[in-house]
Amino acid sequence: MSLAPRFILGIDTSCDETSVAIYDALEKRMLVNLVSSQVALHARHGGVVPELASREHSENLTPLFETALLNSGLRLSDLNAVAVTNTPGLIGCLLVGTSFAKALSYRLKIPLYAINHLEAHLFSPFIGGDIEFPFLGLVVSGGHTAFYRVGSFSDIELVGQTVDDAAGEAFDKCAKLMGLGYPGGPMIDKLARQGDPLAYAFTIPKVKMGPQYLSFSGIKTALHHHLQAALPLDETKRKNLSASLQATVVETLLRKAKHFLDEHKYAGFALSGGVAMNSLLRERVALLGAQRGISCVIAKPEFCTDNGGMIAFLAAHREAEGGPFTLSTTPSKKIQARGLKT
Ligand code: KG4
Ligand code: ZN
Repeated sequence: MSLAPRFILGIDTSCDETSVAIYDALEKRMLVNLVSSQVALHARHGGVVPELASREHSENLTPLFETALLNSGLRLSDLNAVAVTNTPGLIGCLLVGTSFAKALSYRLKIPLYAINHLEAHLFSPFIGGDIEFPFLGLVVSGGHTAFYRVGSFSDIELVGQTVDDAAGEAFDKCAKLMGLGYPGGPMIDKLARQGDPLAYAFTIPKVKMGPQYLSFSGIKTALHHHLQAALPLDETKRKNLSASLQATVVETLLRKAKHFLDEHKYAGFALSGGVAMNSLLRERVALLGAQRGISCVIAKPEFCTDNGGMIAFLAAHREAEGGPFTLSTTPSKKIQARGLKT
């Protein structure tokens, strides 16, 4: 009988953050979760440049791993498993992480787990806590905005998603239009705190394809029109525009969450992904929990944006269900998840 791995190394190099974490599956404790952000590098180009991102991962991954090991107080030989994001993501970036993980797994003779980045986000609100199934999960990031019905670690069903831009993408594109730089979400969040959410009219988009879908591309078009009329821009206008568009994005997400919560009985709602950092969204989701009497769990800030911690955490729960992947594991642009039905 094989023992479940205790110290699991988690690696994520799917986009513009290099991250290494070590999770103690026995004590249910994240020992270390280090993130080396490339935001400053890509900000100069107004968005992520894939080739630059993979080069940065190649340079940063080994020193980050060495620091993580040092900070955890463990020795190399203490590691019992290695988990790595193999999909979805930028292919050159994924290659850096998966190659590193495969080499380490081969050298240490420990199992290798290929983890779906979106599934890892989905379960990230539960790091350090207990999970009640079934829950409605919302993953909201720069690349994805999707709702899932989650019955167990291997029963995950996509129930709704955006038909165009992701919510984070909408924030990023709107920020660019306002001359705020990249990534836009945190800047819009900050400005919105001092703005009037009713100053500018934005409509909640209706999607013809059905009530399970969302759309965010219209917000960018509406902002474009408001900007034309508001020129020249000043600080007050930027604050009011930020507050108004942020309120619309949050309201769009909340209405959809309520729609799904009305459709099925869920034990709770779990919010994750980079946009889960948004202060208004966090407030409104907490309120929703109180209103509905369900548990609303929001990922801790360190587990919202891309991180290796969520990769290691998910691997800890995968062991019992079928075991490790082999050295033939390759990165994939396609979403290949064990439990995910798309
Ligand atoms: O999960 P993540 O780190 O990367 C992806 O997998 O996409 O999410 C990054 C996204 C960006 O679009 C960024 O603008 C958004 O998360 N974001 C925020 C906030 N912090 C990050 N959006 C709104 N408010 C924030 N405070
Ligand atoms: Zn992500």
